[in-house]
Amino acid sequence: MLKARPPGPPTRWFGFPLIGEIKRDILGFYCRMQHEYGDSVFMQLGPYRDYSFFHPDQIHEVLVEKAKAFVRFKRPLDVLRQWNGDGVLITEGEQWLSHRRLLQPAFHVKRFHTYAQSVVDTTTRLLGEQVPRESTVNFQATMTDLTTAVICRTMFGTDLGTTVADIRRAVKILARVALNEMFQPFTWPDWLPLSGKAEKRWAMQKLDTTIRGFISQRRQAGGDAGDLLSMLLLAADEEGDGCRLTDEQARDQCVTIFLAGHDTTAAGLTWLGWILATHPEFSEKAAAEVDVVLGGRAPTFADIPRLGIVERLVKESLRLYPPAIAVFARQAVQDVQIGGWDVPRGSVVRLMSYITHHDPRWYPKPDRFNPDRFLPERMTTLPACAYIPFGAGPRVCLGQSFAMMEMTLVATLLLQRYRIVPGPGQTTPILDPSLSLRPVGGLRLTLTPRS
Ligand code: HEM
Repeated sequence: MLKARPPGPPTRWFGFPLIGEIKRDILGFYCRMQHEYGDSVFMQLGPYRDYSFFHPDQIHEVLVEKAKAFVRFKRPLDVLRQWNGDGVLITEGEQWLSHRRLLQPAFHVKRFHTYAQSVVDTTTRLLGEQVPRESTVNFQATMTDLTTAVICRTMFGTDLGTTVADIRRAVKILARVALNEMFQPFTWPDWLPLSGKAEKRWAMQKLDTTIRGFISQRRQAGGDAGDLLSMLLLAADEEGDGCRLTDEQARDQCVTIFLAGHDTTAAGLTWLGWILATHPEFSEKAAAEVDVVLGGRAPTFADIPRLGIVERLVKESLRLYPPAIAVFARQAVQDVQIGGWDVPRGSVVRLMSYITHHDPRWYPKPDRFNPDRFLPERMTTLPACAYIPFGAGPRVCLGQSFAMMEMTLVATLLLQRYRIVPGPGQTTPILDPSLSLRPVGGLRLTLTPRS
């Protein structure tokens, strides 16, 4: 016997008006849901029973304790599969496990000294080129260029050269396509002469040929360059069937790491720049820490544990502005209980990081920037899943440590080299939650080199 469902908004017209509201203002919608109905909310959306859970203990149940009772909800993944192929983000079960095992060594801490050096070199070069003297820049574009260059260098041992602008455009187009299609029950074939299809075909092809180019160059060069690409091309899944990857399979993993590995981090750094620009007192304190620890030299991976203020800045900025406003929606593969509610097999479950990160029960005055929330002694009082910018449990972000390392080092270099203020006319940005959370219309910041 099922227990009563959690409360929720009335369903009219199979939930399509609700889907329309979510599409128009997803953050406002779920804020309202939590406010009106509490930690557990039920809706009927099209054919799906749809549950949202906002309490950290419920999130822990879904992502960690009862993770086996769920898979990722198929519709969004079907959209991403069109260009990601069957990469680690998309697959489930045994296939996912063998992908995760295959990629894991690229994210082993022993590789991080080299990665950190690449992050520092790339950031120093790019900032030197784009901000040699006091300049107002589109900070979002600068951070996207930076994280794209970092992922290409660290994972594929290359750079995009002249294709960088095309790739930036392709990723932007695919983000827009993804958001649109995720709200539709199916995708019309791409060959149809519909608006946006030509652009989508172009973007998918650009991404595909670029990544295939990386693979064929490396196959020709042979040898082991010590990066993710060599690892994929040389490695066999020793615990699996022992077969080498085909180029097709390597392509799918590479596209996945390329996309997952730069867009979210760029969004995170963009918001971090906004925080530095609008909290000058804090920025000076953090810059002083950087000076004491580094004394003017470039940072290394070994310095990170001593950059406590910078690390708390990164954590608080990912709390206030989580680049992924939610983890991927899940679908129950068996009847399961969450927060005392019966969730029948086939139901969709949503966990919104953004809402839980702004809940005053876990974060008093939640809209205020306060990095001291992440002082080690205070973190012990935080429920396990009250902080989930990277998700949790077996499907936690594979690049979590990489992203934290990259963001901490880039923040350190920014603090060491520049004073940052909002650019002329830059007002408080409006949130654009399409795929990665970004400021509507970019972000203009003025960077002045420190003497
Ligand atoms: C600030 C930066 C980042 C954020 C906020 C972020 C966030 C996330 C989130 C929320 C998930 C999904 C968790 C879930 O649905 O349970 C995820 C998955 C993933 N992320 Fe990240 N990510 C970031 C950076 C990176 C980087 C740098 C890489 C790789 C270099 C990466 C690779 C992946 C992969 C491969 C997955 C899928 C893992 C799986 O399904 O097993 N991410 N990330």
